[in-house]
Amino acid sequence: MMAKFWGKSGNIKEEILKDFPIFKRKINGKRLIYLDSTATSQKPIQVLDVIYDFYSKVNSNVHRGIYRLSEEATEAYEKSREKVRKFINAASIREVVFTKGATESLNMVAMSWGLQNIKKDDNIVLTIMEHHSNMLPWRRVARLKKAKVYYIPITSDGFLDLSYLDKIKDAQVLAVTHVSNVLGTINPIRELAKWIHEKGGIIVVDGAQSTPHMPVDIKQLNVDFFAFSGHKMLGPTGIGVLYGREKILEETEPFLLGGEMIKKVSMNDEEWSDLPWKFEAGTPNFVGAVALGMAIDYLKSLGMFWVRKHEKKLTKYAIELLSKIPSIKIYGPLDVNYRGGVVSFTMNNVHPHDIATLLDEDGIAIRSGHHCAQPLHEYLGVAATARASFYIYNWEEDIEALYSSLLKIHKMFNE
Ligand SMILES: Cc1ncc(COP(=O)(O)O)c(C=O)c1O
Repeated sequence: MMAKFWGKSGNIKEEILKDFPIFKRKINGKRLIYLDSTATSQKPIQVLDVIYDFYSKVNSNVHRGIYRLSEEATEAYEKSREKVRKFINAASIREVVFTKGATESLNMVAMSWGLQNIKKDDNIVLTIMEHHSNMLPWRRVARLKKAKVYYIPITSDGFLDLSYLDKIKDAQVLAVTHVSNVLGTINPIRELAKWIHEKGGIIVVDGAQSTPHMPVDIKQLNVDFFAFSGHKMLGPTGIGVLYGREKILEETEPFLLGGEMIKKVSMNDEEWSDLPWKFEAGTPNFVGAVALGMAIDYLKSLGMFWVRKHEKKLTKYAIELLSKIPSIKIYGPLDVNYRGGVVSFTMNNVHPHDIATLLDEDGIAIRSGHHCAQPLHEYLGVAATARASFYIYNWEEDIEALYSSLLKIHKMFNE
């Protein structure tokens, strides 16, 4: 994509909204107000066009054929890998593995590195705010290897209680989310990496909610594994990334076996491909990878600092307005300098599913439930929360519409 000159028309809002065909839709006769980008983002026409174009003009399998189409497909696939590398500032494309999404990336780490390295009585440190995808795989490793699991708790204002770490003398792995998909908390990854590295362990970071929303610099964060999904950052479903530190990936046996991503197989032996392909057995989602490359181009044309600034502004406004409704309780840090663009809340006397259903009548899409973080909800003492989340195509008027609909619901059930 050519770098866009945003704001050319003097109206950056209209320029962005024009790129997202879904916003032409009406829900219950109302303008669609999409506040569930934490679950999945909407897609700009540029990404949709790439998918159509690729299947129409280039489609053929990658890293297999030696004919023109296959070479073009392979080149496009690998070009996208380089875009991802640059986007997260990884040292080499050898460290960038394409997967199906964050869940697959995180499972791959546990089922390959984890099963290979974790031993009886080892310590696995998780946090209570983890998404199931960065919790359940490690619990399986712990069960299989008879290792122990610890959970870093949270403070009353939604931060990780780092004083808990003083109690852990020895640990082999720390699995932690960069940004909580419920509380919005931005965790101090660099500091946590230092803590586990001093113990000789590794850090596995769930970047599903940070990569789409803020600048991510792998070298600066100094992490060993980092996972994210394309569909949450304007890309299609079925494509994601696992970043792994080169030295660790070299020493790790792949989890998925088979396909072309292998150098040689004899009756009794096999030789893996070079990095990163040794982790990409089977036909990869090359169309998804190419479309993710376009999504990255789109985000870069706005600038990730702009994206973060935009969401900070919306989150601050949402917290400000929702705090005016007395029956609402907001979870997570209130200072947007430490919080991503997600606001989870409950309202007295109304179940979050009912809030979501009533908002839908006004064309407003939010999420309700446990957001795949059931232990966190148990810890917070609630079965479910309602969650509004923001992205590049949301504006102040969306927050105002959310506020006035919530005020209506408040009046219905609390006055
Ligand atoms: C923090 C976090 N981790 C992991 C995931 C899983 O991502 P995916 O469903 O794309 O694999 C999500 C998705 O909601 C998430 O919010």
